[in-house]
Amino acid sequence: MKTVLITGTSSGFGYLTAFKFAKAGYKVFATARDVTSKSMIQMKEIALKEKLDIEQLEIDVTNQETIDNVTHIFKKRRERIDVLVNNAGYGILGPIETFSVEDIERQMNTNFLGVVRMVKSFLPLMREQGGGMIINISSASVNGSIPFYGVYAASKAAVDRYSQALRSEVRQFGIKVAMVEPGGFNTHFGKNVEGLDEEKIKETVYGKWFKKLTAKRKALKIDTKKGIMGWLRDPKWVVNKVYRVANTKNPPLRNLVGWDAYALSLGKRVIPDFIWDWIVRAYVK
Ligand SMILES: NC(=O)c1ccc[n+]([C@@H]2O[C@H](COP(=O)([O-])OP(=O)(O)OC[C@H]3O[C@@H](n4cnc5c(N)ncnc54)[C@H](OP(=O)(O)O)[C@@H]3O)[C@@H](O)[C@H]2O)c1
Repeated sequence: MKTVLITGTSSGFGYLTAFKFAKAGYKVFATARDVTSKSMIQMKEIALKEKLDIEQLEIDVTNQETIDNVTHIFKKRRERIDVLVNNAGYGILGPIETFSVEDIERQMNTNFLGVVRMVKSFLPLMREQGGGMIINISSASVNGSIPFYGVYAASKAAVDRYSQALRSEVRQFGIKVAMVEPGGFNTHFGKNVEGLDEEKIKETVYGKWFKKLTAKRKALKIDTKKGIMGWLRDPKWVVNKVYRVANTKNPPLRNLVGWDAYALSLGKRVIPDFIWDWIVRAYVK
C-alpha cells in the first residue's frame, strides 16, 4: 500500500487531498497544527465510517520538534513515505510597506521554510527507501506579482526556485519533485488571509488608494476574504491535479490549475514587462 503525508489538512486543498488519496487506496498521514480541531475530528469520523486509512498526526511546519516527532514515528515503524505533499500555507496580503519585518518573517517561515523543514526531514527517509515524490503547492502568483500580493508571491517564488533546483539534485536517488500551481480557488485561504485590514490601512499613506481599489474590487465582485464570486472554482480541481501528479512517473516541474494560472504563466512568457506594468497601472489607477 502506498503512503502519502500531507501538511495542512485541517481545511481547503489539504483536507480534500487526504480523502482523495485515501479513497484511491493510499494510507494517508493527514497532518495539522491542531488535530483536535472540529474539521480534523470530522475527518476522523468520516474515515472511520468509510473505512479509509487516514492517520492524523500533529505537524506545525514552523515547529521542527513537531516534524521530528513524526519522522521518529516513521523510523520506529519502518513506515514508507511514497508521497509528501507540502500544502500548509497562508497569505499575507496588502500594501508591502504596511507589513512589519516580523509579519514577513512569519510568512516566509510558514510558506517557504515550512517546506524546507519538511523536505530536510523526510528526504533521508525517501533516499533510504530508494525513491519517492515531493509535491510542493506553489501559486499562480509566482508568475505575476500584483499589488497586495508582493509578500505572499515572494514566499511562493522562493518555493518555486528551491523546488526547481531540488528536482535536479535528488533525481539521482529516484526522488521526483514537482509543484502544483493553483490560481484562485474557493478554500479557507481568503478567510485566513492576514492583512487587507481596511481600518488599519486607512490610517496609512495607502489609505485613499486602498479605499479606491477596494471599491473597484467590490464592483468587480472580487472579495479575497469571501472568495472571488463565480471566478473561483471547485478546489477539487487542485486536489485532482495533485493526485494525478503523484501518480505520474515523470511529472512536469510546474503543474498549473485554473484559467488564471494559465493566463499568468502565458502572460509572463509573451508580455514584456512594460506592458505588464501598463496593464497593472491601468487597474490600480
Ligand atoms: N486557495 C487558493 O486560491 C490558493 C491558490 C494558490 C495557492 N494556494 C496554496 O494552497 C495551500 C493550501 O491553502 P488553501 O487554499 O487550502 O487554504 P486553507 O483552506 O486556508 O488551508 C491552509 C491550511 O494550511 C494550514 N497551515 C497554515 N499554517 C500552518 C502551519 N504553520 N503548520 C501547519 N499547517 C498550517 C492551515 O491550518 P490551520 O487550520 O491550523 O490554520 C490549513 O489547514 C497554501 O499553501 C496556499 O498558499 C491556495
